[in-house]
Amino acid sequence: MKIDLQELQQLAAVQPREDMYAAIHKALRAFMADTLLALGRVDVDDDADLARVTGQVVDLVDFCLSHLQHENAFVHTAIEARAPGASAAIAHDHIDHEREIAELRSAAQDLRQLEAALRPAAAHGLYRALAVFVAENMLHMNVEETAHNALLWSRYTDVELRAIHDALVASIPPQELMLGLRWMLPFMTPRERLGMLTGIRAQAPAPAFAAILDVVRPHLGEREWAKLARGLGIDAVPGLTAG
Ligand SMILES: [Fe+2]
Repeated sequence: MKIDLQELQQLAAVQPREDMYAAIHKALRAFMADTLLALGRVDVDDDADLARVTGQVVDLVDFCLSHLQHENAFVHTAIEARAPGASAAIAHDHIDHEREIAELRSAAQDLRQLEAALRPAAAHGLYRALAVFVAENMLHMNVEETAHNALLWSRYTDVELRAIHDALVASIPPQELMLGLRWMLPFMTPRERLGMLTGIRAQAPAPAFAAILDVVRPHLGEREWAKLARGLGIDAVPGLTAG
């Protein structure tokens, strides 16, 4: 990718459009990358390690399944309402992904039950299958963030897009929401993290906000946490996150 200074100057000069994919796709990329690396180094002779890593694979693919269902229900519906047929290619990907998710899920569960001699080959097969799934999803998310965003931006105002996004988020059960934040907040930039948490703090009850900070904090480095605490105006000392 070549840096286009003129394009960057144009982008910097205008207010960025509402991008409902950006944060959740960063979360998905992080969750996928972490899980793939964990599977690559799993100890198949250690039942606890195998259960932890295959459990993470199941959690990941379940999260991916919910994510694509949210996109189908809210984003594709919005695209089809104003650009009929425009979400067809990506909807087709979603059908393939649902099948792959079911296969990865059962392979991860079956792996735990295998006798020791069969586990190394099964684990490596699952690792390669997950790598292909991750690769396909990386390309898929890029199409959504470019082609789908271009469509959404040409057919909807930012106010309308925020309303669609808010309705989507409101439909997500609390546990899934927390898992999303666990992968979203640590893996975005400090500026994005502070912006999102400032927005959450304005709406969520104080205990819920403190619980979110507690989930996120273990995954931040010392400097990242200090920047965030400073930005939020809270004490950076452990145990005082509710500030
Ligand atoms: Fe998608």
